[in-house]
Amino acid sequence: MKLRGRISWRCFALTLGVLPVFAAGLTANQSVQTQSGKSVVPNNPSEHPAPAQPIPYSHKKHLALGLSCKDCHANPEPGKWMTFPETGRCLQCHVAVAKDKPVIQKLAGYAKARQTVPWVRVYNVLPGVVWSHRPHLQAGVNCEACHGQVREMDAMSEITSVTTMYVCLNCHEMNHAKTACDTCHKS
Ligand code: HEC
Ligand code: HEC
Ligand code: HEC
Ligand code: HEC
Ligand code: HEC
Repeated sequence: MKLRGRISWRCFALTLGVLPVFAAGLTANQSVQTQSGKSVVPNNPSEHPAPAQPIPYSHKKHLALGLSCKDCHANPEPGKWMTFPETGRCLQCHVAVAKDKPVIQKLAGYAKARQTVPWVRVYNVLPGVVWSHRPHLQAGVNCEACHGQVREMDAMSEITSVTTMYVCLNCHEMNHAKTACDTCHKS
């Protein structure tokens, strides 16, 4: 509930023009901000280069087509993972779009072999830490709050420090979510 309070505080701030930097393109997907206007999940201080992917997929290019996150990241039960789209999902367009390009032929090869594309993972929580997307989505935290401005990214990289304990705890404190050790560490 407090989270919602913060978001409406920001809407209020936006109407006053206090945070004009965030106004561009963020109306539908506002990130969680502190009252100083800084994101609760800061960017990584050092650059984390995008890993080489088997197919050079661009979020920027595809989101500009009007697709939404949920079209490809469905968060099935029990809700821990967002998951990656089946190769057939890509082929719904690419059976025709750019079908003669070598990368799309490679994509079609995976689909024909009924293989998922072996995407290299970008964000990784330390194994053993209790994590699930579901309670966060239910609390109204949006994707951009934790993963940055995905719509602007050609190659996906670990732009934010969301997998660190400090950042998890900081946001939990700010939003009065649980902070006891066993929330995130099985005893
Ligand atoms: C057309 C399908 C598609 C749409 C729409 C899409 N994505 Fe993705 N997403 C992918 C694919 C494919 C990958 C794996 C390749 C990569 O990392 O770029 C991926 C990877 C990611 C990752 C990296 C996960 C990891 O740890 O490896 C994040 C974060 C992500 N997407 C967030 C988003 C958000 C947020 C949106 C909406 C603003 C979105 N995606 C929309 C297909 C999609
Ligand atoms: C509260 C922060 C937070 C929010 C909100 C969030 N993510 Fe994530 N996301 C993470 C973390 C942390 C990981 C790494 C999880 C792991 O390694 O177990 C991750 C991993 C992923 C992955 C790769 C693993 C998987 O779950 O399949 C994708 C794809 C992804 N996120 C997409 C999204 C999309 C799309 C949204 C919005 C609908 C979103 N995330 C919202 C923090 C977040
Ligand atoms: C809604 C339709 C649609 C879906 C779904 C879709 N794409 Fe695309 N994709 C496009 C369009 C349109 C372009 C731009 C083609 C161009 O610039 O000529 C494109 C471009 C690309 C390119 C660049 C091709 C080049 O010009 O070199 C790659 C790679 C790609 N898509 C991969 C994927 C992958 C992987 C998926 C599934 C995760 C996917 N696409 C899903 C419509 C789609
Ligand atoms: C942007 C803010 C934010 C970040 C970052 C964040 N969380 Fe959360 N988390 C929340 C909120 C809000 C809830 C929901 C609280 C509620 O429903 O009472 C939550 C709930 C949870 C829950 C469920 C707790 C329960 O009720 O049992 C777990 C587990 C959790 N988070 C783990 C993590 C981990 C691990 C990380 C870091 C990798 C993380 N969170 C990062 C805001 C955040
Ligand atoms: C909101 C979630 C969250 C809570 C609450 C939390 N942690 Fe963590 N903790 C994490 C995450 C995420 C990591 C992994 C950080 C990384 O990979 O950099 C971690 C890592 C650690 C590590 C390092 C583990 C290793 O194997 O290197 C220790 C030790 C630790 N936590 C202890 C604690 C203690 C003690 C508490 C209670 C005071 C606590 N944590 C509360 C999320 C949490």
